Amino acid sequence: MTEIDRVAERLRTATRIAVLTGAGISAESGIPTFREAQTGLWSRFRPEDLASPDAFARDPTTVWDWYRWRRELVDRAAPNEGHTAIAELQRRVPGTVLITQNVDGLHQSAGSEAIELHGSIRRARCTACHAKREWSVDESEFPPRCNCGSMLRPDIVWFGEQLSEAQLARAFAAAESCNVFLSIGTSNLVQPAASLPWIAADRHALVVVVNTVMDGQHHAPNVVHLTGKAGQVLPRLLTPLASS
Ligand code: OAD
Repeated sequence: MTEIDRVAERLRTATRIAVLTGAGISAESGIPTFREAQTGLWSRFRPEDLASPDAFARDPTTVWDWYRWRRELVDRAAPNEGHTAIAELQRRVPGTVLITQNVDGLHQSAGSEAIELHGSIRRARCTACHAKREWSVDESEFPPRCNCGSMLRPDIVWFGEQLSEAQLARAFAAAESCNVFLSIGTSNLVQPAASLPWIAADRHALVVVVNTVMDGQHHAPNVVHLTGKAGQVLPRLLTPLASS
């Protein structure tokens, strides 16, 4: 029995599954990750110039231009086999909670319901009245404005900002109560999301890390590493579920 077969068998009997995803799951859809050496966004741009409240206060147009460029990439992208496999897992095992750090909305496009810890690139919110609405790359006015007349900002959690407490509470509850925790395509460097697999491991869940590179990932007796692309590993994990 291979490691993948063993994990697949455990998933077949699990009733509560938590899944944490990061930029790596969308890499096969053509969306750049953040920290990979040559291609990651943070190797080409400085987060403090583009993804912080100070940057937006200094130069909202530059920040919006960057999000518009990223939104164009997202609008051209389609969910891949990894997103689809997770959506299928949620359908087959209703106690599956998906927690994503991604803002691209590709999980939802694949049919998943997800806790979006870092917000959504498809939504904007008003800097004055805090109303939220969808925005598109061809808004008549750019940076886009709210109905109240004030400037909108991307509805994304920037460096130095707090995550939604309600969403965080749901994510922690899922990590605390799951039988199996899948950590997929994340460098696990950004808190508080990076704590979630540890919480699950401390509660004796099986933690499964799926990543192309295992540097810096969790190591413990109940942590299994499946090295490979999410779009290839995840469908293989689900095969026994499909036949059960
Ligand atoms: P990172 O760029 O830090 O990590 C992406 C991970 O995906 C790396 O560990 C890669 O090895 C792995 N990877 C790449 N391609 C893969 C594939 N096809 N299959 C599986 N794994 C693959 O991205 P995140 O961990 O998501 O925050 O970064 C966390 C947060 O930092 C982001 O949400 C973002 C960023 O600053 C905000 O924008 C608020």
